[in-house]
Order: sequence, then C-alpha cells, then structure tokens
Amino acid sequence: MARELRLNAFAMNCVGHQSQGLWRHPRDQSPNYKHTSHWVELAKLLERGRFDALFLADVVGVYDVYGGSPDAALREAVQVPTNDPLLIIPSMADVTNHLAFAATVNLSHEPPLPFARRMSSLDHMTDGRIGWNIVTGYLDSGAKGAGAAKQVTHDIRYDIAEEFMAIQYGFWEGSWQDDALRCDRDAGVFTDPAKVHRVVHDGEYFHVNGVHLCEPSPQRTPVLYQAGSSSKGTAFAARHAECVFVGGNSQSKMASDVAKLRALALEAGRDRSEILVFALVTVITAATDAEAEAKFEDYKQYASTTGALTLMGGWTGIDFSKPELVAATAATSNAIEGAAAAFTSGGPGAHRDVESIGRAVALGGGGPVLVGGPQRIADQLEAWAETADLDGFNLAYAVMPETFVDVVDHLVPELQRRGLLKTDYAPGTYREKLFGRGPRLGDNHPAAASRQMWARQPD
Ligand SMILES: Cc1cc2nc3c(=O)[nH]c(=O)nc-3n(C[C@H](O)[C@H](O)[C@H](O)COP(=O)(O)O)c2cc1C
Repeated sequence: MARELRLNAFAMNCVGHQSQGLWRHPRDQSPNYKHTSHWVELAKLLERGRFDALFLADVVGVYDVYGGSPDAALREAVQVPTNDPLLIIPSMADVTNHLAFAATVNLSHEPPLPFARRMSSLDHMTDGRIGWNIVTGYLDSGAKGAGAAKQVTHDIRYDIAEEFMAIQYGFWEGSWQDDALRCDRDAGVFTDPAKVHRVVHDGEYFHVNGVHLCEPSPQRTPVLYQAGSSSKGTAFAARHAECVFVGGNSQSKMASDVAKLRALALEAGRDRSEILVFALVTVITAATDAEAEAKFEDYKQYASTTGALTLMGGWTGIDFSKPELVAATAATSNAIEGAAAAFTSGGPGAHRDVESIGRAVALGGGGPVLVGGPQRIADQLEAWAETADLDGFNLAYAVMPETFVDVVDHLVPELQRRGLLKTDYAPGTYREKLFGRGPRLGDNHPAAASRQMWARQPD
C-alpha cells in the first residue's frame, strides 16, 4: 500500500537559498525576504497545500571559502544577506492554524538557557507548532563571528552537542513540573517553588546551574530535526532526532544511509515509527510535462555556477576557485564530512571538473531536481520514498514563491488523489500531527531522563 507522504517547504530567511542565481529571474520574489508579508503569504499558501511544515535553514556566517573572501557570496547573494529565522515565525503562526515551523539553529553559538527560553517562547506562541533542526555548523566564518579563534573540529562539535542536548532536556522537560503553575489569586501563589527545579550540569564543555525561565510549553521539547550524515552525525540523529533530513542524488545510496540510521535508532531503543526521514528535492512542475520542461529550461538560464561553487565551498571547506587543490583540501576539511568526502582523491566527485560541479549544484543545491507534470512527479516521489524508505520530502524552491505555488496548484491535488497526501490536518501540536501520539517526547527518548528531576527534593 502506498505510504502517506509528508511535505515540508525548505526555505531560508535570505535571498538565494539552494538555487544560486535564480534571484535574477524576473518572477522571483525572494529579495522580499525582509518583509513580514512575504512570509505570511507563503505560510498561508503552504497551509492551503497541506504542507506539514516550513523548514527554515540557517547559517550564522558568510560563505568565504571561495576565493578566500566573502566577495562572491555578497555579490551573488549566496545565503547572505540573511535574517534571523526565528523572528518571522510568530507572524506566520498568527495567520495559520496547523502549519508547523522547523527552524535551524546552530547550537555551537548558543548559550544554553537563553536558547531554551527562545524555543519555549516559540512553542508557546505557536501553540506547539515548533521544531528545531539541530546543527553544529560548518563555517569557520561563523565561529569567528561568534568570538572563537576558529571552528572546533568536526567530531568534537557533536560531543559538545551531546552535552548541550542534556542541558536543554533539563530545562525543557525537567525544570518545571506539570503542576508547578498554580496561578492562585487567593493564595498569592503564581508558581509553586517546590515544583521548579534547578538544572545543574558540570560537564566537559558546559557548567550550568539555572532554573528554566518559561513555564511548560505545549510540546516542552520542540520536535527535533537533524541533518548530519557523518558517522558521528548519524549516531547523534539515531539517539535524538525525531525527523531526519537527508540529501543526495542516488536512491540506492540514500536507501543504505537511511537503513543505517534506522538500524542505529533501533539499537538505541527507538522503533521505526519514531523517526521520520525527509529527503531534499526540488520540484519544477506545471499542468503538463511539456510546460514543466519549458519552465526548467527558462530557469536554467539564470542559474549561477560561481554562486553554486561559493555555496559548495562553505559546505565542503574546499576553495573551488583553485581546482588544482580540490582533492588535497577535501582530505583535510573540517566542514560537512560527507560533502567534502565526495571530492577526496577516491571520492565520486574527484574526477569532475569544477565547472560541471557548479552546474550540477546551481539549481537545487545538488539534490534531485524533478521536472514534469503532476503524474510524472508523483510517480518519481513515490519511487524515491519506496526505494529509500522515506516518510516525506523537504521541497526546495527555484523561484520564490512560484515553485511552491506550482506544487500546491498542480502536484498536491495529484498526491491527494493517490492517497499519498492528507486532505486535512490532524488536530494537535506538531508532534501529535506527525506521530499521532501525545504532545511530549516518549519515555524511551533520552529527554525523558530529565523528568526524574521531579522525584528529587525541591531546590
Ligand atoms: C540536507 C541538509 C541540510 C542542512 N541544513 C543546514 C542548515 O540549514 N544550517 C546548518 O548550519 N547546517 C545544515 N546542514 C548541516 C548539518 O546539519 C551538519 O551540521 C553537517 O552536515 C555536518 O555534519 P555531518 O558531517 O555529520 O554531516 C544541513 C545538512 C544537510 C545534509
């Protein structure tokens, strides 16, 4: 039986997200990213199309690997300028009832308690429709901007993330008991201090001693996303993530990565239904195959190879303006492990010339670009989902918001006709809609251990 698919829109609070150069297309409206109305209209459209969530990418740093400077990124709007992803969420939540918001925040630059508070605030303000894409960063420029001498090494970033998560779970799940809030006017007690607990963490990377500042929000912990594909990253996802975002062009490679992730999750005591996997894909669709193909040809004229190489430079740590050094730099990369490994001397991208790499990435960010009318695209999405054991897709745009308008007008009705996409939303928080269980994380998730604080003496 065909499985139900979930759709997220993949965007970023910036101009050029995945498809570099497309901001020059006459119908592209992404330079309006700085206006609230831009996001409000997008949110309404996505809810009309029964998207589960708007997934917001983010980087705190500029892509300055290409040519050793930020010039190309600035000139071509390669994920810069970029505004804060969290700040646009309340306005979008205001005009929707069901659409969720999964926002990327790089924990490497976040102090634990202020971050816990921002996410709890958003969970309150969206009535439990918030998710967090846990990332650890890949840009040296981001680390330097945040005050470090340089980015810490790849695997250590995940060790830091483990500690950071333990602290967040303390704040979100443990610090306040469910019945801590009394709001008793007669007794003059708003919160029962005996039911609020201190999070004390003395670890290798953090020393924290504090009480959460927010009362329990509908989901407490936001729905947890993760997108790391290295062995450290996959192990981290298997322990913590409820949704995993995967990228790649090969169905068989993706199938083996997803199988690995699911096996590790099982080992961690989490069953198949507790982890949903979403794949990156760009869909160019229209009423017919021919119209979609014509649209694709039109879009391609605007795709920027230099913009794509600038983006890839940040992802891989490789300066593609120096083709002769690609393999050597890939071998010592401290950025996204899988992205860099493709260009080491034995990697699948090693033999390709830089120009062709740029062309392949310029539209769709190197993920699959599916072009066709609704039937063809629905067939292809079904095939990807079936082969790679996917639960849904994060759909990137080529032209904003045209790509999403086309998906909603053409593809969504076809997916619904096939029983692959819901025609209405389930009630409840984001977590309830995704998993059909309660609003909170289950007892077998590592976060649940923090609830044991409730059994301790009050602080
Ligand atoms: C499809 C996909 C989307 C990602 N989006 C972001 C993002 O928006 N911001 C970010 O800082 N990292 C992003 N990442 C990077 C990862 O979350 C992770 O930090 C990075 O892949 C390094 O980990 P790894 O070597 O385990 O893959 C993304 C990765 C993938 C595969």
